[in-house]
Amino acid sequence: MRVVIAGGHGKIALLLAGVLAGRGDQPVGLIRNPGQAADVERGGAEAVACDLEAATAADVAALLEGAGAVVFAAGAGPGSGVPRKDTVDRGASVLLGEAAGRAGVRRFVQISSMGAGQPPQPGSGEVWAAYIAAKTAAEEDLRSRDLDWTILRPGSLTDDPGTGRVRLAAPPLPRGTVPRADVAKVIIALLDDPGTARQTLELVSGDTPIAAAVRALS
Ligand SMILES: NC(=O)c1ccc[n+]([C@@H]2O[C@H](COP(=O)([O-])OP(=O)(O)OC[C@H]3O[C@@H](n4cnc5c(N)ncnc54)[C@H](OP(=O)(O)O)[C@@H]3O)[C@@H](O)[C@H]2O)c1
Repeated sequence: MRVVIAGGHGKIALLLAGVLAGRGDQPVGLIRNPGQAADVERGGAEAVACDLEAATAADVAALLEGAGAVVFAAGAGPGSGVPRKDTVDRGASVLLGEAAGRAGVRRFVQISSMGAGQPPQPGSGEVWAAYIAAKTAAEEDLRSRDLDWTILRPGSLTDDPGTGRVRLAAPPLPRGTVPRADVAKVIIALLDDPGTARQTLELVSGDTPIAAAVRALS
């Protein structure tokens, strides 16, 4: 299956593309910086230049033709300020949802974040508040669309090796961490299981093997 990953040079995106390519799928990474193409291609994905803060829905829809699924893995990142939380964490997800609808690509996995869907904790700072507001708005937009969406809210991400064991359930879960490698594997299991469409899920490390955790949802 052709799987288009928005934010294709991101840490989760590269891990996800590697696993997809390794099992015979065709990952495509959308990147805003063409200088990142070689990294994306080294991981087994096709790299396509597309700045999601500049492209139109028609531009992105054209890139999604023939895809079986899309994954929103972009993010403005830790060094960014309030405006880019809105233009990337909200705006780019909305754009991808609109483009998926136009291109007829129904399956959509969105990486959101624990904390979305609730007001930010008092005193957490304006950038965090903007991030949570952007993720919440992106989720609400996706839920309003006639797509087979799954919203995945990981806890704090680490670069530790994956354990293959998680806690994955409808909110709320207690706060925790999760390796990006396990997030990538959960996304693949969600893509493989259409019964997880129209679910909002939280994810932290846990005791349940990923396949069993996803099977229990549908
Ligand atoms: N950090 C955490 O603890 C945490 C917790 C829960 C959820 N999340 C979410 O998890 C997701 C993935 O995390 P990650 O650590 O894998 O992210 P990451 O490594 O920061 O990657 C994000 C990617 O998005 C790309 N991007 C930014 N603006 C773009 C644009 N206009 N067009 C196209 N691509 C663009 C970035 O490209 P550039 O290199 O060009 O900037 C980068 O490659 C994010 O949505 C993040 O918010 C993070």
